[in-house]
Amino acid sequence: MANPPPASAAILISGNGTNLQAFIDAVQTGSLQLEIAVVVSNRPDAYGLTRAGNAGIASACVRNGDYPDRDTFDKALGDVLDEYAPDLVILAGFMHILSGEFVRRFEGKILNIHPALLPKFPGLNTHQRVIDAGERWHGSTVHFVTEELDGGPGILQGRIPVLADDTAVRLSARVQTIEHKIYPRAAALFASGRLKFSDGESWLDGAKLVEPVQFDGE
Ligand code: GRF
Repeated sequence: MANPPPASAAILISGNGTNLQAFIDAVQTGSLQLEIAVVVSNRPDAYGLTRAGNAGIASACVRNGDYPDRDTFDKALGDVLDEYAPDLVILAGFMHILSGEFVRRFEGKILNIHPALLPKFPGLNTHQRVIDAGERWHGSTVHFVTEELDGGPGILQGRIPVLADDTAVRLSARVQTIEHKIYPRAAALFASGRLKFSDGESWLDGAKLVEPVQFDGE
């Protein structure tokens, strides 16, 4: 019997798209069974759109400025996504705070990656804030998106030590190296049916995750 078709994903970006590239590479090398159905940017100059084109993936641009407010933008964005009926909506550097209505529309299907060890350091400028706070550890967290900003249940977390001479730029580069490993892995768990969202929690292999799984570097 033929294999069932892989789960499909829409990947939302605003910029460089190195995480998008990690997904493209993982799919192309066969380590991730996922069909990237569409890449959507809210910025027309996002380099990630070029990455999508180079990989032969459909793309669309939905610009915030073309809509009078967040709710109408989110409605238009959701309508574009619905054309592709994605199993998964992957936020990969998507610089826009989604409305509760959008989150409910795609409930349990939206993943985000946040460059900090959540619940520490939600919000922006995490790398500099980590240095300023004298933290010894930093990293990144993949989580399901809920209506609470950067507050959805964690899935996978990778951490790195903060070095004495670290700058925000250096830390960011090392965090991204981790992100490119953990984000496709989290998507693979979802695509295979092992990872689910239910009752506001992450569930892995039928058990509630009380905290994100720690990525051990392998
Ligand atoms: C990542 O560091 C991610 O943690 C944050 O936005 C950044 C996107 O980077 N949400 P890129 O566009 O994937 O290179």
